[in-house]
Amino acid sequence: MGRVSWILSLLSVTSCVSAVAWIGEVKEVDGVTYQCKCYSDNACWPKNAEWDALNTTVGGALQVAVPPGAPCHKQLGNSSISVYNEAACSNVQANWVNEQWLTDHPIANLWPLYTNNTCLPTDNPSAPCTRGFYGTYVILATTKAHIKAGIDFAREHNLRLIIRNTGHDFMGRSTGYGSLIINTHTFKDVTFTKKYDGPGNWTGGAAVVGAGVQGRELFRKCFAQSPPVVIVGGECPTVGWAGGYILGGGHGPLTTIYGMGADNVLSFDVVTASGEYVTANAKENPDLFWALKGGGPVFATVVSITAKTFPEVPTAGTRLNINSTLTNDSAVFNEGFRIFHNLANHYVENGMFVYFELSLGTLHIQPFVGPRMDEAKIKEVLKPLFDQLNAANIPYDAYTRAFPTFFELYIDMFEDEQPNQNSVVGGRIFTHQDIEENGDGVAKALLFASQPTNDTFGFSVGHIVDPGHGVPVADNAIHPTWRNASSFVITNVIMTGTESWEVKMERENVQTNVVGKALREAGPNGATYVNEGDLNEPNWQESYWGSKYPRLLEIRKKWDPTGLFYAKTTPGTEDWDVIDYGTKLCKKAS
Ligand SMILES: Cc1cc2nc3c(=O)[nH]c(=O)nc-3n(C[C@H](O)[C@H](O)[C@H](O)COP(=O)(O)OP(=O)(O)OC[C@H]3O[C@@H](n4cnc5c(N)ncnc54)[C@H](O)[C@@H]3O)c2cc1C
Ligand SMILES: *[C@@H]1O[C@H](CO)[C@@H](O)[C@H](O)[C@H]1NC(C)=O
Ligand SMILES: *[C@@H]1O[C@H](CO)[C@@H](O)[C@H](O)[C@H]1NC(C)=O
Ligand SMILES: *[C@@H]1O[C@H](CO)[C@@H](O)[C@H](O)[C@H]1NC(C)=O
Ligand SMILES: *[C@@H]1O[C@H](CO)[C@@H](O)[C@H](O)[C@H]1NC(C)=O
Ligand SMILES: *[C@@H]1O[C@H](CO)[C@@H](O)[C@H](O)[C@H]1NC(C)=O
Ligand SMILES: *[C@@H]1O[C@H](CO)[C@@H](O)[C@H](O)[C@H]1NC(C)=O
Ligand SMILES: *[C@@H]1O[C@H](CO)[C@@H](O)[C@H](O)[C@H]1NC(C)=O
Ligand SMILES: *[C@@H]1O[C@H](CO)[C@@H](O)[C@H](O)[C@H]1NC(C)=O
Repeated sequence: MGRVSWILSLLSVTSCVSAVAWIGEVKEVDGVTYQCKCYSDNACWPKNAEWDALNTTVGGALQVAVPPGAPCHKQLGNSSISVYNEAACSNVQANWVNEQWLTDHPIANLWPLYTNNTCLPTDNPSAPCTRGFYGTYVILATTKAHIKAGIDFAREHNLRLIIRNTGHDFMGRSTGYGSLIINTHTFKDVTFTKKYDGPGNWTGGAAVVGAGVQGRELFRKCFAQSPPVVIVGGECPTVGWAGGYILGGGHGPLTTIYGMGADNVLSFDVVTASGEYVTANAKENPDLFWALKGGGPVFATVVSITAKTFPEVPTAGTRLNINSTLTNDSAVFNEGFRIFHNLANHYVENGMFVYFELSLGTLHIQPFVGPRMDEAKIKEVLKPLFDQLNAANIPYDAYTRAFPTFFELYIDMFEDEQPNQNSVVGGRIFTHQDIEENGDGVAKALLFASQPTNDTFGFSVGHIVDPGHGVPVADNAIHPTWRNASSFVITNVIMTGTESWEVKMERENVQTNVVGKALREAGPNGATYVNEGDLNEPNWQESYWGSKYPRLLEIRKKWDPTGLFYAKTTPGTEDWDVIDYGTKLCKKAS
C-alpha cells in the first residue's frame, strides 16, 4: 500500500489557523479509503530533533512510553531500549492489582484488554514485551503549558493524541496504539470557597478541583473542611474526578439527592484542540460549558473544574448478601434478586443510592446508601424488601449501620475493586416506567447476563440511582433519560485476555447482540451511559445522548474541527475507525 500525501484544510471557527498541509497515510480497507494519523512507520512521523524540541518546550517532561510490565522483560519490542530490572519487576508483580500504584504509573491502563494484554509481568525475561496498544511517548504534564505543548505538537504532526488521567477507563479510552499521551495525574490542587461569586446563580460553597484529583482524595479534602462539605463524586476511590468522570456525566452515592457530578459544575478551565486556554461557564463560552457537562471526553482537555459543594449529611447504610453460603437453589436466588430489584423505584423515591454486584448465584449489595437517614429510617425504608424476602422464604444476610456523615459511611462501607481484569463491557439505564411496567423482565434480563451463552459468563455492577430525583431538569449534555432513571447496570462478559482476535470479536458480539439485546428489550424506555457502556452500542448517538446529540455534534465541529481528540462512540467520530486490528486511527475519506 503506497503512502500518499493528502491535504486537510483546517476550517477552524474559533482560531485564526489558516490552511495547513498535513501528510498522512492513505489506506484502502474493504473498499473504504482511509486517511490515517501519522505513525512511526510513516515518513510524517516527527524526527528525533522535533521530539527533542518538544521535550525542551515541556522542560524535560517528555518520556518514551514504557509499559508497566516492561521491567520484567529484557527488551522493549525490537528496540535497543533495555528495560529489565529485577527489583522493579518484583515491584510490578507486587502491585499488579494495586489501583493506586497503577494510576500513579505514567501510562498503565487498568483494563489490559485495551492494551492488547501485552508486556505482562512475567518470571521469564525472554518473553517479548511489545507495545501493543500502549502509546509511544508520554508528557508527564505539570503545568497547563505542558498540556498546550502536547496538544499543539499532536495537532501539527497529525498524531494520535491520548489524554490519560488515571488509566481507569474500561472502554480503552486512555490508551492508544502509537500515540502521544498527555498525563494529567499531577494536577492535584483543590481549593475551597464558602461563598461562590462566579457566573451562574450559585452562592453556596464551591471547590476548584485539579484534573488529576482522585475520588477518595477529593472526598477526604471535602471532609477536612470546617464545617465538612460533600461533592458529588463516584464510588471508586481511585477513579479520577475532573477527567472522564465529569466529562461523561458522573453518577455517585449522592446523585439521587444532588444530581450527577456534571450537574454541579460551575466552570471549566481547559485547553482546546487549537491550543487555547479557555474558561467555559454560564457567561464565557456557554456552548462549550454545556457540552463538557456530559458530552464525553472529546471537547477539550480539562485543567481544572469548579463545582458546587454541599453541607455534609448524616447517612445510614445497609449491606445485604444472598449467595451460596445461604442457598444453592437457583430458583430461590433468582426470586431474591427479582424482589430486590423490583423495588428500585421505591429506593430512589426515598433518596437512596444502591450499589450491587451480581453474578451466577451471588448477589452482593454493599451498600444501600440512605442520605439524611438514621438506622431506624433506613430500616423503615427497606421494610418492604425484608418483608417480601421473608414472605418468600429467601435466605439473606443483612447488616445496617448509621454514620454521622456521608464520608464516614463512604470510608467504612464502600469496597475497593480489583483492577487488571479483562471483560467486555455494556449496560443500560432502566427508567421508572421500565421497572413499573416490566420489572420482572428487567430482573430476568439481568440474571440472564450472568451466563448469556453456554460458554460465556457475566458479572454485573448495578447502581440504583435517580439523578432526576434531586435535579429534575438540567441544561447540559447528559441524556434526558437519566432524569427518569431508576437503575443503571453495567454488564460484563468475562474474558481471560488470552483469547484470539476472533474470540474477542465473538465476546463483543455476545455483549452487544445477546446481553445488550436482552437489556434493550427489557427496558425499552431506557438509554445507555457513555462512561460505562458498549463500544458497539447500536444507534449510539441516540442511546448515549438522545435529543442532546445534534447540538453536541455542532459544538464538537466548532471546537475540534479536525478530530484531534478521539474516543469511540463520542460526538463527531462517525467517520473515524481504529483499523488494522486495533492499531491505526483513520478517517474515512469523503
Ligand atoms: C472501578 C471503577 C469504578 C467506577 N465508578 C464510577 C462511578 O461511580 N460513577 C461514574 O459515573 N463512573 C464510574 N466509573 C467510570 C468512570 O467515570 C470512567 O471510567 C472515567 O472515564 C474514568 O475517568 P479517569 O479520568 O479516571 O480515567 P482515564 O482512563 O484516565 O480517562 C478516561 C477518559 O477521560 C479522558 N480524560 C481524562 N482526563 C482528561 C482531562 N483532563 N481532560 C479531558 N479528557 C480527559 C481520557 O482521554 C479518556 O477518554 C468507574 C470506573 C471504574 C473503573
Ligand atoms: C527529555 O528530557 C529529559 C531531561 O533532559 C530526559 O531525561 C528525557 O530522557 C528526555 N526524553 C526523551 C524522550 O528523550
Ligand atoms: C522492528 O520491527 C519493525 C516492525 O516489525 C520493523 O519495521 C523494524 O525494522 C524493526 N527494527 C529493528 C531495529 O529491527
Ligand atoms: C495484539 O495481540 C495479538 C495476539 O497476541 C497479536 O497477534 C498482535 O500482533 C498484537 N498487536 C499489537 C499491535 O501488538
Ligand atoms: C439566574 O437567575 C435569573 C433570575 O432567576 C435567570 O433569569 C437566569 O437565567 C439565571 N441564570 C442561570 C445561568 O441559571
Ligand atoms: C452450596 O454448595 C457449596 C459447594 O458445594 C457448599 O459449600 C455450600 O455449603 C452449599 N450451600 C448451602 C446453603 O447448602
Ligand atoms: C456470601 O454471604 C456471606 C454471608 O453474608 C458472606 O459472609 C460472604 O462474604 C458472601 N460471599 C460472597 C462471595 O459474597
Ligand atoms: C447449551 O447447553 C445445553 C445443555 O447442555 C444444550 O442443551 C444446548 O444445546 C446448548 N446450546 C448451545 C447453543 O450450544
Ligand atoms: C420520563 O417519563 C415520563 C413518563 O413516565 C415521560 O412522559 C417523559 O417524557 C420522560 N422523560 C424523559 C426525559 O425521557
